[in-house]
Amino acid sequence: MSSITVTPRTPAIGAKIAGIDLSEPLTAENRAAIQDAFDSYRLLIFRDQYLTVDQHVAFSENFGRLEIFPDPKDMADGHKTVLRVTNIDRATNKLKPVDDPGHKSFTLGTSDWHIDSSFRTLPSKASMLYGIEMPADGGDTMFADTTLAYDALSGTRRKELEELVVIHDFEETRRRHGLPPRPPEVQAATPPARQPLVAQRDHDRRALFIGSHTAGIDGMDDAEGRALLDELKEFATQPQFTYRHQWQSGDMVMFDNICVMHRAMPYDLSGSRRLLHRTTVAGEAPLQAVQSA
Ligand SMILES: [Fe+2]
Repeated sequence: MSSITVTPRTPAIGAKIAGIDLSEPLTAENRAAIQDAFDSYRLLIFRDQYLTVDQHVAFSENFGRLEIFPDPKDMADGHKTVLRVTNIDRATNKLKPVDDPGHKSFTLGTSDWHIDSSFRTLPSKASMLYGIEMPADGGDTMFADTTLAYDALSGTRRKELEELVVIHDFEETRRRHGLPPRPPEVQAATPPARQPLVAQRDHDRRALFIGSHTAGIDGMDDAEGRALLDELKEFATQPQFTYRHQWQSGDMVMFDNICVMHRAMPYDLSGSRRLLHRTTVAGEAPLQAVQSA
C-alpha cells in the first residue's frame, strides 16, 4: 500500500504530497501513487525533502529518461542531467554579474511564461525543480495550468484552436529580448518545431501548448499569430488557473511539461542568492493533435 497522502489545492492548481521521503528509493506502490496524482493534478508539491544531487536524479529517473544539459558551467556537480537554476557562479560561488550576457539571457528567459523545452520536437514530460538556497524576498515561481484554461474556453473557441499548428522556436525568446542569435550550429540542434496548439493528453484531457518559445501560428501572418498567442497567454494565466510557489529550502515541485507554464518572479539579483536544481524527463512520443470526429 502506498504511504503518501494527496491533498488537492483548491480552488487553484496542483496537489500537495506528504508521507514520503524522496531521499529513499520509491516503492512500486509509492511510485504508482505519485504517477496517479501527477496525471490527475499535473503539479505536485513535496515539502521538507533533503536530497543530494544523486538522490534528486534517482527520484526523477523513476519517471523516465532525463534530458542532458550540454553546458558544463550550468551542470550541478558535473551531473549532466541536473541544471543549476541560479544567479550564483559555480566556479566562484559568488553572485554572477547582472549584466553578464549569458546570465541576462537566462534571467530574462525564465521571467517570461514558458514551458521548459517546448521548442524540442519531442516535448518533455515533466520537470522536477528542487529549492536549495532561496532569497528572503521574492524569487517565487508562478505556475499556470493550460488544461484548466482549455476547459474554460467555449466549445466554439476550442474547435477553432484544435485546428491550429503552433511553431515553437528557442530563438524566439532571444529575439523578443533583443539578444543576438546563437551560432548556426547550436541553432541546428533545436530547429523550430511544429506542434498542435491543442494537445490531446491521456485521460481525455486537452491542453494549450503555448508559452514564450512560441514564434507563430501556421498559416497566419506574424502579427495575427502573435496576437492570438498573446491572447491565449493572458487567458491561461488568470488567477484561477495559476499557483504561486513561495520557495523554502527542501521544496520539490514536479510539474507537467506539456500543460504547465511557469515563470520566475523578480528578486534582488545582485544582492540575494537563489539556487534551484532542475531535472527534466525527456519526451518519448510526439504530441497528439485532437482528432476531429
Ligand atoms: Fe523553466
